[in-house]
Amino acid sequence: MGAFSDVVGSKTSSKKLINLLKGWPSLSLLPTQLLDKASHNVLKNTSIAFPAMCYGPDAGDSRLRRNVASWLTKFYEPSEPVSEERICITGGASQNLACLLQVFTDPVYTRNVWIVAPAYMLSFRIFEDAGFHKKLRAVPEDEEGIDIEYLRREIEKSEAKAQKDNNNTPQFKPQRSWGKAYKHIIYCVPTFSNPSFKTMSLRRREELVYLAREYDALVITDDVYDFLQWPSSVTPKTLSIDKASLPRLVDIDRYLDGGPEREGADGFGNTASNGSFSKICGPGLRTGWCEGSNKLSYGVSQTGSSRSGGSPSQLTACFLAEALETGDLQRFVYDQLQPAYGDRYRRMVQAINTELIPLGVRLPQTDREVVGGYFIWLTLPSPLKGAVLAQRAKDEENVVVAQGEIFQVPGDTEYPGTSFGNDVRICFAWEDEEMLAEGIERLALVIRRMQDEEATGSSKHQVAAAEGDAKDFW
Ligand SMILES: Cc1ncc(COP(=O)(O)O)c(C=O)c1O
Repeated sequence: MGAFSDVVGSKTSSKKLINLLKGWPSLSLLPTQLLDKASHNVLKNTSIAFPAMCYGPDAGDSRLRRNVASWLTKFYEPSEPVSEERICITGGASQNLACLLQVFTDPVYTRNVWIVAPAYMLSFRIFEDAGFHKKLRAVPEDEEGIDIEYLRREIEKSEAKAQKDNNNTPQFKPQRSWGKAYKHIIYCVPTFSNPSFKTMSLRRREELVYLAREYDALVITDDVYDFLQWPSSVTPKTLSIDKASLPRLVDIDRYLDGGPEREGADGFGNTASNGSFSKICGPGLRTGWCEGSNKLSYGVSQTGSSRSGGSPSQLTACFLAEALETGDLQRFVYDQLQPAYGDRYRRMVQAINTELIPLGVRLPQTDREVVGGYFIWLTLPSPLKGAVLAQRAKDEENVVVAQGEIFQVPGDTEYPGTSFGNDVRICFAWEDEEMLAEGIERLALVIRRMQDEEATGSSKHQVAAAEGDAKDFW
């Protein structure tokens, strides 16, 4: 554990550190034996091992592409099976977000990157690296997952500006048959979102695909938590679920009105799904997949770095191809991960129901039958501030949580619903299971103290505390 203790605990509390900040998988749920078997099977057979240890094909190991396609077909049950051509192997969702921006945007012609907020904060720098630091825009969520009317209004304004500026052709990227510059990028995590924990409704997913088509936008979704799902009930009848309850945006883009090949469309489609083995097998594998139209998937495979280096993560991709072919990985997800993370979730939610809800803390979308992911989003009773809670929880109770502000889109926090001063994110995946309920109990102690101080007018020092060492929370 020593190598992982990167959060400095409280200097003033003698209690054991409880880390509800870190969004990593539980070490106890990393499938070392599964990988040991899969890697052994790959490495003992030179006909698999040699290609595995050389440069991979641009689109990635074809056995993994096939096996991913077949698992996705079983899980999402799309109207047509997912074909290998729709899949490109990647170095994970983060790496492939960068690749998508390289092949499918132009830093001037692409008008804006629209980010559903609160947002996965580590995506910001990926957008900034691609030249979009002055073009990031926040789109608020509502109970259904994205405020689509707000997005439409703002895209229209952005288009009007582009017309005024004569911004009509890509300036910085060469014309290539496998790529294009979209006018807009929309980024979201539609299922069990990090950080908001919300799931976008089917209606909104369809509206978003239509909107993307209308304005030449590419919707990039990180579908990295979809497999980690379980019934929301605290007394569930089943501990695992091997079918998705909603289609991904990439599925919807395929079936709505003839899909990317419909008349008048250019065949690239308007959605790209980033899948990842990070959450279900281990982030150190650095392997994922991208699904899109055949044309989009081919375009991703033609990213310059993949043309030179071959598919990213070729060796681990071959291990994963083996683990999927034997069915070991799917069984691991359904028989071990879903029950174990579900159990952790239930412990935490039960503690939240007992300790925090009576204090006025709110959770999003409490009417869902299926929940999942790694995180829960808590909205504090007014006027309590997430940053103050985070600071005081650390100082007074040695519990670390993420204050809502770190998930705000840089430079765009004015519109209602795009700033998160009253919220915190907590993670139930990383910390020891036995400590989760205690973490919530300690948070409740701090919230109660803050409320008492509010009531007696003695809360002034809280603000000063919040301005302290927020960097510690990373
Ligand atoms: C929404 C989201 N996207 C991407 C990632 C990173 O994925 P990967 O490890 O595949 O790069 C994470 C990890 O926390 C995440 O929550």
